[in-house]
Amino acid sequence: VTPRVEHVAAPGSPGAAATPAPPLRVALLGFGTVGRSVARILSERTDIASRLRLTHVFNRDVARKRASWAADSIVWTERIEEVFASRPDVVVEAIGGLEPAEDWVRRALQQGLSVVTANKQLIAAAGPRLLRLAADEGCELRFEAAVAGGVPVIQAIQQGLAGDVIARVAGILNGTCNYVLSRMGSGSVSMEDAVTDAIRLGYAEADPTSDVDGVDAAAKLAVLAGVAFHRELRTADVATASIRPVDAVDFRYARRLGRTIRQIAAVEALDAATLHARVGPALVPEASRFGRNEGANNIVAITGRYGGTTAYSGAGAGGDATAVAIVSDLLALSASRGPCGPAEWPAAAMDDAHEGRFYIRFVVRDRPGILANITAALARWRINVDAVLQEPGFPKDRLPFVVTVEPCRELDLRNALNEVDSTDFRIEPLVLPILFE
Ligand code: NAP
Ligand code: HSE
Repeated sequence: VTPRVEHVAAPGSPGAAATPAPPLRVALLGFGTVGRSVARILSERTDIASRLRLTHVFNRDVARKRASWAADSIVWTERIEEVFASRPDVVVEAIGGLEPAEDWVRRALQQGLSVVTANKQLIAAAGPRLLRLAADEGCELRFEAAVAGGVPVIQAIQQGLAGDVIARVAGILNGTCNYVLSRMGSGSVSMEDAVTDAIRLGYAEADPTSDVDGVDAAAKLAVLAGVAFHRELRTADVATASIRPVDAVDFRYARRLGRTIRQIAAVEALDAATLHARVGPALVPEASRFGRNEGANNIVAITGRYGGTTAYSGAGAGGDATAVAIVSDLLALSASRGPCGPAEWPAAAMDDAHEGRFYIRFVVRDRPGILANITAALARWRINVDAVLQEPGFPKDRLPFVVTVEPCRELDLRNALNEVDSTDFRIEPLVLPILFE
């Protein structure tokens, strides 16, 4: 099926037009956490203005939503009819819930307008029907933002892993539960207080029951199952357990087993037609990628028959992260408007003044005054020592010790080390940057 989004002939081809196609006209439904961030990215990213133009913002009682930074040309409306009458190229649905969002998405697709949505509830409940409708009408329905917020896991499955046969998708898909469980695991807070904090920080749904009881993660898992296995998985068919019964004492016992507790969502294909899907709290090794996943972060591990497991992680919620996924979907729809970004990569200007903390390991023939010699050279270059470490038990003629320094320019550090008067004691020092990420 050819999407109805207007196509441009490739440069140099017989039909190549001299004038580039106009930008896709985007109508945004919903100016809440996510919608506002979408509008802000579209207004700030002048580099993509030739491909995407926000024309309408729709919201109930819209006057209170109007943003001073938005372009004057944007029409702010609370009349959905005005949006459809304007015949945009793409409708972004950032309203949430099933109704009236489903009605408006269906209506857009019926008119041949492509839709980008962040609505996991809608895709989990009606995705297969809406995708069929989009195909019949020659337009597209994209929903990267519906799962794992800003983590591009749907693109990863559909594009990056298209060469594999997916066997299993497992992950942490609900930021609220991960935030709650990782805070309980650090021993500092009760479940009730952690949920209250998750609401305050904007991670939780309006009714956090759907987070805590696994319904939100089950909906996201249903969407991922459709993308990975091309089978409809109904949210109600996911075996779902709440995190509510998990108590502080469970973390103490888990720790004795080298484990911690996370809400894990997993779906695997038992054969081409049979899926097994579950969501609920589980013990995972503390040192595993799931065990180390802290706060509201999401992580998805996808196992393919040929390529093994690849993992994707990042912010699973939040306006900006989720809006990035929406804007990326919009850019994918606008791909026929030419390549994203400039056609050339001009040579980069280089800045080699690398700055940071460093670890310097010396191996010396020991004698008095070595440390004074080194620290004097560092001081001349205004480099502050952070720590000096020396393990016992090494021979005096090849004695290793370490100096760490506070943030400085690498060039200054190299100059300082070259100045160390070391003819009678030094063997080349090893300099390593100390990274925190
Ligand atoms: P939100 O802050 O509540 O924004 C929804 C917006 O839609 C609000 O401005 C709301 O207006 C408006 N709205 C709701 N019902 C309407 C109606 N019937 N007519 C007109 N306007 C209506 O929600 P959100 O957090 O942006 O979430 C939007 C979607 O993104 C949801 O599907 C959500 O699941 C998904 N999502 C959100 C996140 C996240 O971190 N927030 C992450 C991933 C996916 P009022 O101000 O009057 O309520
Ligand atoms: N309530 C959801 C979560 C927001 O905690 O993951 C993102 O969908």
